[in-house]
Amino acid sequence: MASSLKHPNARILIGEDAEETGRLAAQVLLDVVTTDPAAVIGLATGSSPLPLYSALAASGADFSAVSGFALDEYLGLPEGHPQSYAEVVRTEVTEPLGLDPALVHTPDPQGEDHAARAAAYDAAIAAAGGIDVQILGIGSNGHIGFNEPGSAFDSRTRVVPLAERTRQDNARFFGSLAEVPDQCVTQGIGTIFEARHLLLIAHGAHKADAVRLALEGPVGEQFPASVIQRHPQVTVVLDREAAARLGQRASD
Ligand code: F6R
Repeated sequence: MASSLKHPNARILIGEDAEETGRLAAQVLLDVVTTDPAAVIGLATGSSPLPLYSALAASGADFSAVSGFALDEYLGLPEGHPQSYAEVVRTEVTEPLGLDPALVHTPDPQGEDHAARAAAYDAAIAAAGGIDVQILGIGSNGHIGFNEPGSAFDSRTRVVPLAERTRQDNARFFGSLAEVPDQCVTQGIGTIFEARHLLLIAHGAHKADAVRLALEGPVGEQFPASVIQRHPQVTVVLDREAAARLGQRASD
């Protein structure tokens, strides 16, 4: 059965398993979209938000006026590559939820002038009115988006190298480690922090240490996800395994 955890730094919802985290996280988003059918949602890729996207698709809610901005995109993949986040967002989010493709954006990894394209991405988020809810996963090294350890808390959307550990973690999506790009464009931590609500999702025992450090470790750029402790509105949705190392276990 789902429960919640009193915590000084976030509202924490705990599901029995990944599927239940999806339903709990979906309720957070459905509340926002019911209030504002034209809400602006920040879209994470990777495995953590997949149960959320499935639950949203199953809800039958109308997302046709919702705008989406992906957190990040690999550099160096040919356009249309199935692991490019533009493709992942199209197949996992835009199509199943019925978003308007014209309202869904991913950072543009093609071409040369990455600084100008990255600045244009931040400008497009601002022009849309800012992000209402930013969905986040967490890397085992504490990254959010692809802001690897050492990323400045005031960083903006930009090209960054992927940490070796992240490439290894993401090799499961590719045929081999060698095929995983070594660079990407990511929303900066400063960009992410401007979202009005952060919705972080994690499941599995392999995320328990990262979740503990994000919520209860020292706040600092060596563990980027720790920035959430400074954000005024954070919801963290975990399964039991990912929540297992949190200090305060008194349920509501
Ligand atoms: C994906 C992203 C990453 C992932 C993180 C966790 O857009 O920005 O920060 O959220 O690497 O990945 P999973 O969910 O696959 O464990």
